[in-house]
Amino acid sequence: MKVVDEIIKKAAERAAKETENVPEELFVGEAVQWPVELKIGKGLEGAIACETKIGYVNGPKGWLIYRGYNIFDLALHSCYEETAYLLLFGELPNKQQFEEFKEKMLKYRDIPEEVIETLKKIPKTTHPMAALRTGLSVLGNFDDKADEVTLENDQEIAIKIISSLATIAGAFYRIRNGKEVVKPDKTLSHAGNFLYMMFGEKPSELAERLMDIALILHADHGMNASTFTTMVINSSLSDLYSSIVGGIGSLKGPLHGGANEQVIYMLKEIGTPDNVEQWYKKARAEKRKVMGFGHRVYKAYDPRARILGPLAELMAKDDPQLNNLYQTAIKLEKLVIEDLGKTKKVFPNVDYYSGIVYTGLGIDTTFFTPIFAVSRVAGWCARVLEYLPVNRIFRPRAVYTGPLKREYVLMENR
Ligand code: COA
Repeated sequence: MKVVDEIIKKAAERAAKETENVPEELFVGEAVQWPVELKIGKGLEGAIACETKIGYVNGPKGWLIYRGYNIFDLALHSCYEETAYLLLFGELPNKQQFEEFKEKMLKYRDIPEEVIETLKKIPKTTHPMAALRTGLSVLGNFDDKADEVTLENDQEIAIKIISSLATIAGAFYRIRNGKEVVKPDKTLSHAGNFLYMMFGEKPSELAERLMDIALILHADHGMNASTFTTMVINSSLSDLYSSIVGGIGSLKGPLHGGANEQVIYMLKEIGTPDNVEQWYKKARAEKRKVMGFGHRVYKAYDPRARILGPLAELMAKDDPQLNNLYQTAIKLEKLVIEDLGKTKKVFPNVDYYSGIVYTGLGIDTTFFTPIFAVSRVAGWCARVLEYLPVNRIFRPRAVYTGPLKREYVLMENR
């Protein structure tokens, strides 16, 4: 269309004219020519995105701290509800604050029937993380205040999402196993109800406690990929549901939350403790990553694995099949640490033993990463809420290394 073509040509002329005196080589942006020595932190390594008071990981020391409290103390004394409150609001709650918070969590356990119906309609072969992403996205559509992005409103939505994500996950667990979805049991703790939603019966005290510990241990962990994803989405002042849905998508990957599932496949592939040496030799020769080992930040034993390892042993001791997995795991751990511990500071991470604990609880392997999400949602929400009052949209740069001035060739001349 001629008139439109003329507009575009004129726009191009004007754009060129207005900046004709600006030298190209001084352009500091997504540029081929960078005036200073250029360093790219691959995977954003070393980049600092913001300040935070929520959590701290000291890699060389192997520390994990939420709001100043050591993870060992929280695993020992706290529960998931209290830990979520601490992450969101910065302080341990007093009795009244705790009761009010739990009351809200209970209220939000119920989700609209339409969310359950949607989960029933997706293929049973859908990965539970994909189902969780879908379920939360649908839930967001039923919140008429979703787009009211204020601190107060998002705090309320955060509690709602933290509570209801366990319901969504539990519902899909039953659906894909061909079972009726059960309604949340409001007499149970968050961890207890999560297990109840999966199995349809009240969990034992030990099972509830182990799930609670697992949820506490996974609740926050620095500026990891999924946390950063939620923050990036929220920094455009999008709604909290969209941000958390993005976080779930990021956590799904095998290099992040998906590793707990991969560890079990790996241990099953090895088969028995007797095969460990041969398997490891081959894996190293093929430059395979050993799942459940290594970390961008920890350069010491992950404190969460310190707790989950002995809990895995506890679960495995009366179950020969699980014990075989556990014995295989400890033998492999010894080999990897001997080989890579000193030289590359590669040690077990949180995902190495959590899968054995979950297997002991009777949970399907493909469901391990959703457990991670059901927990980490507290950290995602806390960090998004912390950033909101000082929000600036995230916008890093990429260095363009392609050609600059190519002449457009019409299709008939190509
Ligand atoms: N198995 C074998 N070697 C490993 C390893 C693993 N699991 N993790 C790290 N290494 C090696 C790397 O190959 C690298 O070796 P190089 O110096 O010869 O290149 C060295 O140790 C340092 O790795 P690093 O830079 O610390 O790793 P990263 O920050 O790029 O990646 C992970 C971190 C978590 C993605 C990586 O360790 C990994 O893929 N682990 C397995 C998956 C997993 O368990 N993920 C869950 C994380 S909680």
